[in-house]
Amino acid sequence: MNDGAISMEVIKNPSEMQAIADKIRQTKRIGLVPTMGALHKGHISLIESAKKETDFVVVSIFVNPIQFGPTEDYKSYPRPYDEDQKILEDLGVDLLFFPFAIDLYPNPQTTFINIRGLENLLCGKIRKRHFKGVLTVVAKLFNITKPHSAFFGQKDYQQALMIRVMTNELNFDVRIRVLPTIREEDGLAISSRNIYLSDDERRKASILYLSLKEAEKLLKKGEKPISIVERQKLLIEREGLIPDYFEIADPETLKPVDGLGSGAVIIVAAKIGKTRLIDNLIVQ
Ligand code: PAF
Repeated sequence: MNDGAISMEVIKNPSEMQAIADKIRQTKRIGLVPTMGALHKGHISLIESAKKETDFVVVSIFVNPIQFGPTEDYKSYPRPYDEDQKILEDLGVDLLFFPFAIDLYPNPQTTFINIRGLENLLCGKIRKRHFKGVLTVVAKLFNITKPHSAFFGQKDYQQALMIRVMTNELNFDVRIRVLPTIREEDGLAISSRNIYLSDDERRKASILYLSLKEAEKLLKKGEKPISIVERQKLLIEREGLIPDYFEIADPETLKPVDGLGSGAVIIVAAKIGKTRLIDNLIVQ
């Protein structure tokens, strides 16, 4: 077990991980931070919260093939394993679960988790198999690492919401913690995919956060979502980004709302060059 900065255990085998988790659970609370690696400040803040709230922190690194579409970046997704391992050791993470695809999918997966309704909205409309793949792997990670709490970032709002719904409806005994988005100075949400951006694209990408803030201001002033959405889409397009969607939605159903009511999420996805970025703001 972890008795110093460089003693982080690295486990690849799911059965071995389950046996360790069983043993740890006898005396400690396990916190899981599921990641696909290419760790950044957003992941670090999740790990720091996991360290504060639980006794034994497991980070998983797994680039999950079944959540990528055929034309998406599964093969080119950044995999800076040595740097990631060093970050985790420096943070004092107790265990890294780092399976190969063959360990998690020894046979083609035939069992999938899906949430009727939510899986076809927003990102789900464009990334057809994405959430089915995310929920299925997260359920597997819960069963393998047996956490008391699991930590996710608000940047992936739809993902975090769907994981919460899955956890409730399937009675997983896991507390889902969703923590605020970590941002660059100009507001751009930190993401592993930001490294794909050229300098020019990087500068332009800050329009996403600016458009969310502007939409928030207008929504609070009482302007109708439908006109805010059209205006913000144009603003984003003028910067050279191609919006997949810009919506002001109910925080639970993700269906468009026609006013602020008891709260809303303003949520956006847009392409800049070959990179697809997402962001959101919760408005009370
Ligand atoms: O957000 C991510 O990095 C991934 O979707 C997750 C939750 C680790 C599942 O592969």
